[in-house]
Amino acid sequence: MKTFISIEGLVYDYPARTPEDQPVRAIDGLDLHIREGSFTAVLGMNGSGKSTLAKCLNGLYVAGDGRVLVDGMDTADDANVWKIRSTVGMVFQNPDNQMVSSIVEDDVAFGPENLGVPSEKIRERIDAAMKAAGIFEQRHRKVHLLSGGQKQRTAIAGVLAMQPRCVVFDESTAMLDPQGRAGVMEIIEDLRRTGITTILITHNMEEAVRADRVIVMKEGRIILEGPPAVVFADRRQIEAAGLALPASLTVRDELIKRGIPVPDYILEMDALAEWLVRTAEAGEPDDED
Ligand SMILES: Nc1ncnc2c1ncn2[C@@H]1O[C@H](COP(=O)(O)OP(=O)(O)O)[C@@H](O)[C@H]1O
Ligand SMILES: [Mg+2]
Repeated sequence: MKTFISIEGLVYDYPARTPEDQPVRAIDGLDLHIREGSFTAVLGMNGSGKSTLAKCLNGLYVAGDGRVLVDGMDTADDANVWKIRSTVGMVFQNPDNQMVSSIVEDDVAFGPENLGVPSEKIRERIDAAMKAAGIFEQRHRKVHLLSGGQKQRTAIAGVLAMQPRCVVFDESTAMLDPQGRAGVMEIIEDLRRTGITTILITHNMEEAVRADRVIVMKEGRIILEGPPAVVFADRRQIEAAGLALPASLTVRDELIKRGIPVPDYILEMDALAEWLVRTAEAGEPDDED
C-alpha cells in the first residue's frame, strides 16, 4: 500500500494571546506516514495535540515548520486547499456543531452543493452517503429530533457525500451512548473495507485495539506507535502517556496471572470471550487437577 499522508517535522504554534504570553507549541516536530486504506487510532491525554494534528491533515491549519503532504499535495500550497478539503473529511465530537440544515438530507447535500457538484449527481451521491452512514431511512426527518447517534450519522453522511479518500474522526464517539458509539465504529469498519483511509482520535481503548496501527501522542510528539498488540504491550509508556489499558487486556493479564495462558494476539473483548469458550470446550490445556 502506498503512503497517503506524509508528515515531516511538523511544528504548529498557536499565537500568544497577549504580547506578554508565549505562543503555544501544540505540535513539536512530528513525523508520521499513513498508508492508503489503513485504519489508525490516535491516543493521548487532553492537550497532547491530537485535534491540532487532525486540523493539519486537511489544511485547516498550515504547518509552521515542516510539511504535510496529502496524496502528494502540500497543504501549505493555496492551490490545493479545496482539493485537500474534499480528499480528507473531518467528523468532530459534537454533532450539534456540525449541522447546517434542519432536514437530514439537506444537511448531507450541503457539502457537495458547495463543491459545485451538478444537481443531477447530488441525489445519487447523498443517497449513497446516507445509506453508508445508516441514516437513509431518516432522510426526511428534522435534525433536531434525532438522537445523538443519528446526528453523528448525519454528519458522517455529509462528509461521505464529498467522496473523501480519507476520513478523520476527532473523538466522534465521545458524546454518544454505547449504541451510538457502536454504530459509528461499524461505519468505520465499513469504510476500511471500501479502502478509505481512516484516522480515529479516541479516548476509548476498546476502539483503539481495532485499528491496524495505534499512535500515542504526548506534548505534541508521537511517543509510541505500532500495531495495537505492540503498543499496549509497552505498559510503561502507556502509563507515561497517561492512558489506561483496554479492559480486555486488564482481564487478559488477570487470567494469565491465574495460570490461564491467553495468547498475545487476543486484544478485543469478543475475541477473548471466544477464546475462553473454545478453550473451556476443548478442556483446560494446563489443567492442574
Ligand atoms: N485555539 C487555541 N489557542 C491556543 N492554544 C490552543 C488552542 N487549541 C489548542 N491549544 C493548545 O494546544 C495544545 C494541543 O491542544 P489540542 O490539539 O486541542 O489537544 P488534544 O486534542 O489532544 O486535547 C494544548 O496545549 C492546547 O491548550
Ligand atoms: Mg482534541
